[in-house]
Amino acid sequence: MTKILTLVASRRSPGNSELLAREASAGAEQAGAHVELLNIAKLNISPCEGCLGCVFRGKCAEQDDMDMLVEKFLAADGLIVSAPIYLLSPASVVKKVMDRALMMALYVDELSQRRRGALSISVAGKADWNPIGMEVLNQMALSYGFPIFNYLETYAPGPGEILLQDDTIEKAHNLGHDLVDFIEDKKPARIPEPNQCPSCYSRSFRLLGNNRIQCPFCLVEGIMDSQGAIHIPEEILNDSFWTPKHRKRHLEDWIKATRGVFLKNRPAIKEKLEKYL
Ligand SMILES: Cc1cc2nc3c(=O)[nH]c(=O)nc-3n(C[C@H](O)[C@H](O)[C@H](O)COP(=O)(O)O)c2cc1C
Repeated sequence: MTKILTLVASRRSPGNSELLAREASAGAEQAGAHVELLNIAKLNISPCEGCLGCVFRGKCAEQDDMDMLVEKFLAADGLIVSAPIYLLSPASVVKKVMDRALMMALYVDELSQRRRGALSISVAGKADWNPIGMEVLNQMALSYGFPIFNYLETYAPGPGEILLQDDTIEKAHNLGHDLVDFIEDKKPARIPEPNQCPSCYSRSFRLLGNNRIQCPFCLVEGIMDSQGAIHIPEEILNDSFWTPKHRKRHLEDWIKATRGVFLKNRPAIKEKLEKYL
């Protein structure tokens, strides 16, 4: 049976994110999936200590709810993540969970053998105050090895106000159902608009000069034509930041390699550190 993990990132209970997450979960259950819903804003999740123990010892030094959450991420076929937008991007617990995803590089090969998918849901007060909500939520799903199936961007400032939008509630329900169909290979993923990153759906880009652009989230590079459409070559898309190949390269050629340089530099750093201690 397809397993869906639903994460809510708001401490309002029941807030708009929770209501939409519950509706999407009901849709997934209707499609035959087993769904487990957790509120990550109420779990004990510490900030990353930056020790890189996850990469070098295969174990995070923290003793908190992340062990349990990682088990659930690994077991799930699908992810629904629903978060409020606070100060222009998803509430901070989303970033805390993302920061702890470094060690997922150890599992990417295994996960890429399975068909998995994610639905991200954002709730903001106002559309023009939500510049990168969906973009960041999609990165969280990708960082735990879930390709993006679709996303839902919604707007409702007051607690529970989303319930006044019958069409939005219905959309959440249907997308939850369709996520299961996607995982079971019965439905395709959302087709990106011409102005979106074809890899992660971002609509924000770095301007590199001469029409060249880079997606600042998944790091693929291409050009923007005079109509504002994004073109990224297939071979670059196939090597975006979250592909298993790129993640393993990031781990081996960057993280592990920088350790050697650091160990070499350690005596000099120690000497210069003296006056700050
Ligand atoms: C601290 C705080 C910061 C917020 N910042 C934004 C913002 O930057 N942009 C926006 O559109 N809405 C913002 N909002 C509105 C919330 O996104 C909105 O109330 C949403 O419904 C919250 O979802 P919830 O009920 O699931 O918590 C903010 C709300 C709070 C409490």
